[in-house]
Amino acid sequence: MKTASPFLFSRTSLFLFFSLFVFCQGGQFQPGEWKLVKKSIGISAMHMALLPNNKIITFDRTDYGPSNISLPSGRCRRDPHDQALTTDCSAHSVEFDPADRSIRPLTILTDTWCSSGALFPDGKLVQTGGFNDGDRAVRYLSPCPGCDWVESQFGLSVRRWYSSNQLLPSGKMIIVGGRGQFNYEFIPKASKSDISLYDLKFLRETRGSSAENNLYPFLHLLPDGNLFVFANTRSILLDYVNHRILRTYPEIPGGDARNYPSCGSSALLPLVLNSKKETKAEILVCGGAPPDSNAKANSGVFMSASKTCGRLTATDDSPEWVMEEMPLRRVMGDMIMLPTGDILIINGAAKGTAGWGVAREPVLEPVLYRTGMVGNRRFEVLRGTSIPRMYHSTAHLLPDGRVLVGGSNPNIRYDFMGVLFPTELSLEAFSPPYLIKGSPRPTITRINPGLNLQYKTRFSVEFDSKKKDGGVYVTMVAPSFTTHSYAMNQRLLVLEVAGVRQVSGTHYVIDGYAPATSALAPPGHYLVFVVHGGVPSPGKWVHISSGGN
Ligand SMILES: *[C@@H]1O[C@H](CO)[C@@H](O)[C@H](O)[C@H]1NC(C)=O
Repeated sequence: MKTASPFLFSRTSLFLFFSLFVFCQGGQFQPGEWKLVKKSIGISAMHMALLPNNKIITFDRTDYGPSNISLPSGRCRRDPHDQALTTDCSAHSVEFDPADRSIRPLTILTDTWCSSGALFPDGKLVQTGGFNDGDRAVRYLSPCPGCDWVESQFGLSVRRWYSSNQLLPSGKMIIVGGRGQFNYEFIPKASKSDISLYDLKFLRETRGSSAENNLYPFLHLLPDGNLFVFANTRSILLDYVNHRILRTYPEIPGGDARNYPSCGSSALLPLVLNSKKETKAEILVCGGAPPDSNAKANSGVFMSASKTCGRLTATDDSPEWVMEEMPLRRVMGDMIMLPTGDILIINGAAKGTAGWGVAREPVLEPVLYRTGMVGNRRFEVLRGTSIPRMYHSTAHLLPDGRVLVGGSNPNIRYDFMGVLFPTELSLEAFSPPYLIKGSPRPTITRINPGLNLQYKTRFSVEFDSKKKDGGVYVTMVAPSFTTHSYAMNQRLLVLEVAGVRQVSGTHYVIDGYAPATSALAPPGHYLVFVVHGGVPSPGKWVHISSGGN
């Protein structure tokens, strides 16, 4: 590559990563754009996932009473213990196709309220637990045309309500906690050890006095394969193979609780891969509420949400939380990783907590958190929407680089009138600033040797780009399962690059390396993006495993 080339390039992706942020500072700032993509999908999107066939899967709970869409083929659900309707012929799960905005009702016959999930390595969506007749269920949805949920009503060892999931390097999934469950378990249940239940005292200890401020614990798989678990204000490193706690991290300062119902959010910052160095893992936790906020809200006093984020390098020898102040207070925010490696903090409220009707003052403006910048240039307030996204709202990155937003129902039933925050059946898409810069986007034309990557092996990404300046890097994003302000299994890797070649006018090839281990990138589907001058290409699905092509 010639030095006159427009690319800022060095051997390490780390340099590319940071050179980009410097470039971004020069451009004129754009606040992003909102679009209503569907007025009603028939249900309120409490849980949201993206399948490798580009379909969005949403579901809420089966005991809301009737939704605004019928179950397929005239089916009905019968549950004598249902809190709203013992016979319900409406659907509570929907597939949404962002390409043509069509919807397809799906069949869930046991209750999925406040449940959890993630994708298995084969691209199947797995959903676990819920309430009532669904509290021990494991449900699967394959990414195929016309496919529907397959339910196994007693797939879990114990009931799980408000638990969290993480896909592991082995391809198994761990399910941690839930109401009254101070333990974890694994699926699928292939061997005796999968059927066992493992105690986690930490969850009993972090429960809190006025509210269980440790539900939906934040899980992050670290580069050494161990699991970082954050609950309420505390965090540990869990060796889930030998069932030992390897480290106890310092408590996050400030006193605010960070997990449900004080719902802050959390993300593992981009893992910048470099075969010569150990991969550093940083955890970010943003927003939340004072520990007694839920109890106060239930008595009509709405306390201000947290304004802080804490950032911890979990791989350091003696890590400390570095606290930062957000421009806006937020409880029930979602933290969605953008293809660039930045984080969008979106949805939620400025007062109160999660729960039925116990939050006030919707925060309509998303905030961009630039992971690579220093000081107060990290945060940027973006353009707001007009639709409050309160309790039971969700967000998910779309393959085209937009962020899909849906849900919001702080009411016990579907209520469209006479309530403070009506049940939202709509979906909106937020286009982050990089999509409306008016500058051309790179496009991935080919991935060699193919779309099935093998750990540690070399591969190349061919792309077209009309851009003349700015750094280039490649990211790989694991799709999340988002509910209750937490995008489970979300993961972004900045790949190690060996070189960039200009093949012809606007055509380039990047040679790089697939992530080295399944602890860095558990087997499964990822979206690959080329980012050029701060603008990401549309994502292209790849699959990584130890088998490869
Ligand atoms: C849902 O259905 C109810 C009852 O038919 C109706 O009043 C309401 O307007 C519908 N909501 C939407 C967003 O379609």
